[in-house]
Amino acid sequence: MTVVRAGRVEVGIVRWDGDQLYALRNVCPHAGGPVCRGRLGPRIVASAADPLALDVDDACPTVTCAWHGWEFDARDGRAVAPGSRLRVRTYPVRVEEGTVLVDLGRARA
Ligand code: FES
Repeated sequence: MTVVRAGRVEVGIVRWDGDQLYALRNVCPHAGGPVCRGRLGPRIVASAADPLALDVDDACPTVTCAWHGWEFDARDGRAVAPGSRLRVRTYPVRVEEGTVLVDLGRARA
């Protein structure tokens, strides 16, 4: 995960599983912390087979906020905590001729 700035907007660019790219605004919906300055890893979930064990979900790139550890799915920005409706803003991202392009839409600075 790399944090870049476009004008006044900071965006975390996530590269996952080789070629999957996601872009998230670097503002946590909890308390405004720099969510993309935290950790990126697979989602850790309770095992369905053993309630005392944990499983790793490699399909879910999870961003853990640097301030208080809240976790968000990098694919859509949604908080992974069950029942939470919070989400980090996400942006469309693509690669053209080796350059990563993020569409900030109206947030463009
Ligand atoms: S500001 Fe991100 S978890 Fe609190």
